[in-house]
Amino acid sequence: MTDSPALWIVTCGAGPAPYVGRLITEAKDRGWRPYLIATPSAVPFLDLDELASLTGAPVRHSHRPPDNQRSGPRPKADALIVAPATYNTINKWANGIADTYALDILAEAIGNDIPIVVLPFVNASLASRAPFRRSVDQLRAEGVHIMLGPGEWQPHPPGTGSERLSQFPWSRALAHVEEATWPHVKS
Ligand SMILES: Cc1cc2nc3c(=O)[nH]c(=O)nc-3n(C[C@H](O)[C@H](O)[C@H](O)COP(=O)(O)O)c2cc1C
Repeated sequence: MTDSPALWIVTCGAGPAPYVGRLITEAKDRGWRPYLIATPSAVPFLDLDELASLTGAPVRHSHRPPDNQRSGPRPKADALIVAPATYNTINKWANGIADTYALDILAEAIGNDIPIVVLPFVNASLASRAPFRRSVDQLRAEGVHIMLGPGEWQPHPPGTGSERLSQFPWSRALAHVEEATWPHVKS
């Protein structure tokens, strides 16, 4: 790889979303070119102008009209992080649903053989649901690294999410993609 590797970040509509700039800044500092894709529900959480100026590219959150040319020179992803990942997106993605631009990107990414790291922000009640547990298992079986469980990120009790925002492990998600991208390099 001669250019800096491209890191696509998909952000969903959950509490840590307004702070995704921290991940973008750290990724840039570590030599990645980050590009941000938001689900439609994430958009109200984000300052799109600020994030576009941080990445140097528009934040994509919808499909282009069918008669439009491809917009912008976004390079192919070398790795992808989904953070924060919602209950909704994890369930839809695992079940092959692609009804948003972000889910289309995620559906294809699994077939592209790149490192994918998912950092969920889901409370313990939602995380205990059988559909969610099945979705996590299905995505893991397809090679997706989901940061959930002992030694990773633990779901929070309902109603306490705001107390966990400052601990959200953005850096650890980046370390995981780096370990998968350059397995011979210690992070
Ligand atoms: C203020 C606010 C906070 C939310 N926090 C979470 C959350 O932490 N985790 C989650 O899974 N959903 C959360 N939701 C609900 C999701 O936004 C909702 O399920 C939405 O449909 C997710 O869409 P997406 O997966 O396309 O982003 C929150 C919604 C709002 C308005």
